[in-house]
Amino acid sequence: MVVKGLKVVGGLLGVALLGGAGFYGWAVSTTHQMRAEVYDVHTVDIAVPYPLTETEIADLRAKKAAELVTAAPPADGVALASMATVDPAQAVDPLAGVDLNALALENAVARGKHLVEARYGCQICHGGDFSGGTMVDSPVLGTFKGLNLTGGKGSPVVDFKASDWERLVRHGVRPDGTPVAMPSKDYAAMSDQELSDIIAYIQSQPKVDNDVPLPVYGPLFNVLTALGKIRFSVQDFGSIATHLAVPPPPGPTVEFGEHLSHTCTGCHGADYTGGPIEGGDPAWPPSANLTQAGVGSWTYEAFDKAVRSGVRKDGQPMQRPMADVLPMLGHTTPDETRALWAFFQTLPAKPTK
Ligand code: HEC
Ligand code: HEC
Repeated sequence: MVVKGLKVVGGLLGVALLGGAGFYGWAVSTTHQMRAEVYDVHTVDIAVPYPLTETEIADLRAKKAAELVTAAPPADGVALASMATVDPAQAVDPLAGVDLNALALENAVARGKHLVEARYGCQICHGGDFSGGTMVDSPVLGTFKGLNLTGGKGSPVVDFKASDWERLVRHGVRPDGTPVAMPSKDYAAMSDQELSDIIAYIQSQPKVDNDVPLPVYGPLFNVLTALGKIRFSVQDFGSIATHLAVPPPPGPTVEFGEHLSHTCTGCHGADYTGGPIEGGDPAWPPSANLTQAGVGSWTYEAFDKAVRSGVRKDGQPMQRPMADVLPMLGHTTPDETRALWAFFQTLPAKPTK
């Protein structure tokens, strides 16, 4: 009886193993095909640096004009009178000789630094100096390294045009149209100006030679991808046709908060209801519910502390992977957390997934 039973169990195990191997073979070849697929994604050009807006130019002109007056005050009443009668066509443009492009670049690099450090976190996976870093390194999921973005030796972006950055960052395809395993979905709502600023900032950094290996897909990643449980960003966001040109004006408003909140959706879900993180390490805790069902009973101070200092409402330190993004969220300004808070106040309570 026992022997017979063992044989049956052995047989069942054999079938399971054979079936398992066949299933895994299917998963690997399916994932391979998915990785080789070429997606048709729009190609749009974006100026780098993003040109000064008309308002910025008008403000600058007024500032320079004021500087000219204080630098060369009229000597006496006569000069004042003659200044008043100057023919505007003859007047010197206060912006003459000012390098507007250099100024635009200076502004763009400063904005790009804040965007990368506080919100879009390229450094978390691509390294502090952008020369390469690690997204995931796990025996079951695989090894996914952020590539070298500096333009040094071994960097895939050496010949990137702005349109190549755009397709990669906001849609998740390489220049040849194949999908990248980077969470570009978090960046799908990035405006043209923000993207341009990020490119300007990264390009302002020193070039570093570092050849980072392409991802190695682990068994769990292959299986989850083949089953559609992990999706390449391009599968959902490749076909977005239009983007905001500039972000909503900064300030503690619902509109700005909604714009900022797009970078929380990768972990907290597109509808902010939290739960287990798609494609994440099985050891990670579920993310929190950010609708009123979750943070509805919180004070703003507790929320601000969670987001910017990584202290949970219960006083415990935040766990991974929220802890991983804290070096970034710590750069969030109080105006930005106020905006996020204002936006989450508008989300009706929905149960956690
Ligand atoms: C969560 C981790 C992560 C973050 C954050 C991230 N990346 Fe990546 N990135 C990756 C990984 C992993 C790869 C390699 C993926 C692949 O080759 O399939 C990659 C690849 C790239 C590539 C090279 C693609 C090629 O041609 O081979 C560029 C360019 C890039 N990322 C830009 C950015 C920029 C800009 C940001 C910030 C706005 C950013 N990444 C944020 C993980 C990340
Ligand atoms: C990389 C994934 C990730 C990103 C990005 C992320 N979170 Fe989280 N978040 C988590 C996880 C996981 C938890 C649960 C952590 C824990 O229980 O310690 C969490 C918890 C929280 C909590 C609750 C803390 C508590 O006391 O329970 C708040 C509030 C929060 N996140 C807000 C945000 C906001 C706002 C953003 C976007 C600006 C954001 N998170 C981006 C993964 C993330």
